[in-house]
Amino acid sequence: MAYVNMYGMLHAAKRNHYAVPAFNIVNELSARAVVNTAISLKAPVILQTSVSTVKHIGPAALIGFLKEIAHRAPTPVAVHLDHCTDIALAKHCIDLGWTSVMIDASMQPIEENIRITRSIVEYAHPFDVTVEGELGAIAGAEDNIVVSNQDAFLASVEGSVLFVQQTGVDAFAPAVGTAHGQYKSEPKLDFQRFQEIQEKVETPLVVHGGTGLSDEVFRKFISLGAAKINISTALKIAYCSGMRSFVIDNPENTNPLSLDANAEQTIAAMCREIFELFSACNQA
Ligand code: 13P
Repeated sequence: MAYVNMYGMLHAAKRNHYAVPAFNIVNELSARAVVNTAISLKAPVILQTSVSTVKHIGPAALIGFLKEIAHRAPTPVAVHLDHCTDIALAKHCIDLGWTSVMIDASMQPIEENIRITRSIVEYAHPFDVTVEGELGAIAGAEDNIVVSNQDAFLASVEGSVLFVQQTGVDAFAPAVGTAHGQYKSEPKLDFQRFQEIQEKVETPLVVHGGTGLSDEVFRKFISLGAAKINISTALKIAYCSGMRSFVIDNPENTNPLSLDANAEQTIAAMCREIFELFSACNQA
């Protein structure tokens, strides 16, 4: 029951002015930490998988344990493939049971981006799998996709309307100045553009590059209609700092399970802050 695609959760979020966090998990421990926190807060959540994680664990093994974790949750959990540039891999993940995929053809000219994205929408929808597309190019490094500040460009309002109409995507990520990874300087965010896109496009909007944005910026995006916000780097930081602090505080420890438990708690604490900030608690 709880293993769902993104459609219902994103439309409910848009309607009721909160955002669903999409956390890029890296293994079973991090997926469990995210979902257990969502359950405890009665919040919807998106378990997001980067392509490198899919390749590292193997698609079948990964979806095997994610499905199991999602199925036993009483709250809605979507399993979403993030930034996939490989059409064959996106289709394979749909075949294996991901409930949602992002096809990222944003570095192509808009006509080609539309053609590729639409082909995945046509493949995914008969399986009841939702699709996210992107327009513009988001700066920074996400997985193996690296976009320099010079190559980053924002989505135009007209292009966004055309893209959403012609692809039929279920979630739309327009580049508006956020960046993947840690911000090295204050990001220049185009809220005006985001608002204009939201006024012209029915499809729920996605904000990438959540790590390092201020509480005020999150609230502003949510007030302007952001329904899904991606958090990846912050989870990795929480995971590693949980491991590191445990090893430093317990140098004699030889039980990996207590090391895991500490990392799980650190990830859970980070997630809890995000769910609360996004007003996603008690929305499931
Ligand atoms: P951060 O790593 O900045 O949180 O970005 C996550 C993201 O947008 C994944 O697609």
